Amino acid sequence: MSLPELDEAAWIDLELAGTDPNSGFRYVNLCTVDPDGHPQARLVVLRSANGQKRTIEIHTDTRSDKWREIGANPSVTLLAFDPARGQQLRLRGTAERHGPGSPVAADAWDRLSPWTRSTYAGGPPTGERSDAANAGDESGKVVFGVIVFRASELDWFQLERGANRRALFSYGSRGELRDAREINP
Ligand SMILES: Cc1cc2nc3c(=O)[nH]c(=O)nc-3n(C[C@H](O)[C@H](O)[C@H](O)COP(=O)(O)O)c2cc1C
Repeated sequence: MSLPELDEAAWIDLELAGTDPNSGFRYVNLCTVDPDGHPQARLVVLRSANGQKRTIEIHTDTRSDKWREIGANPSVTLLAFDPARGQQLRLRGTAERHGPGSPVAADAWDRLSPWTRSTYAGGPPTGERSDAANAGDESGKVVFGVIVFRASELDWFQLERGANRRALFSYGSRGELRDAREINP
């Protein structure tokens, strides 16, 4: 595979992770910088990816530390690893916040299942039935936010016995591939 083909394949796999809960890239580490300048990492679900724009969508509670940290410093790294392929994708970029009331958050909320909505509402009140009527509670919408990550660089690493490979890709502001080079892993 040529370097542009490797890049394209990586983004196709990220796009598939948005629809396949069993994909190795379904859970990614979202790494931010906290107010003390300390690195922070946590797993999040990759909700969707767009290989043309080089974007990845993540959902979260706007009361979370990650939301505040991105507000103060939008520089983030996303780290994905698929054990089946032995492939690591380290994506460097920036994150935009789309909070409650924004068109992006409203659209994403409309597409959530009642169960997922209930996780933002903190679930039904203690002692009440967790049936569909309760789980569909819209109150979680007021704390529901969408993080849109935009990649500027991909550090691609393929673990392969005796033949590890590593390549660096950089992207322009419209997502176009600007540079690709293989480096010593
Ligand atoms: C497999 C897995 C998936 C998770 N997915 C999300 C997610 O999509 N969004 C989210 O906000 N937190 C998710 N979490 C919880 C976060 O890892 C984290 O513990 C929580 O959001 C608090 O992070 P913060 O205090 O750094 O903001 C997930 C945790 C695990 C273990």
